[in-house]
Amino acid sequence: MKKLMLLIVGTAILGFLFVSCGGGSQQKESKSLTADIENGKVIYEKVCIACHMTGVAGAASLTDKPRWEEMAAKGMKTLHNSVINGVPEGKYGVMLERGSCIDCSDQDLYDAVAYMLKEAGVSAK
Ligand code: HEC
Repeated sequence: MKKLMLLIVGTAILGFLFVSCGGGSQQKESKSLTADIENGKVIYEKVCIACHMTGVAGAASLTDKPRWEEMAAKGMKTLHNSVINGVPEGKYGVMLERGSCIDCSDQDLYDAVAYMLKEAGVSAK
């Protein structure tokens, strides 16, 4: 009987967590962050490199400076938001939510963007 009670309470707590974390399909907003370039390199080499090194499927390669200049003009916050939410219908291709890194934090993604801009030789506000 005690076990059953624990199970019921446990399920209730899990259910609550699930509902409170769900958040629906709202667009998430980028917060003001400070880039950690070292961490950005780690994240880039783990995930983003798959598309952004050579420019797979419309992704900008790190050597394609004109593309990065075009991106940088949008500003850091916009770029960060694009990575967080993905680019479902881009001018060049499709990027999945979080650049397909589901276990990357917002900070990780911000760092990766900052690292990539730096490698491409451009800077964004
Ligand atoms: C599966 C391939 C793929 C992966 C992995 C990927 N990207 Fe992308 N990314 C793209 C494509 C394609 C675009 C171009 C979308 C467009 O504008 O048409 C893009 C665009 C971008 C942009 C520009 C967004 C804008 O507003 O113009 C940024 C910044 C970016 N990626 C960063 C990242 C970061 C950081 C990672 C790793 C966490 C990552 N990407 C992983 C394919 C990828």
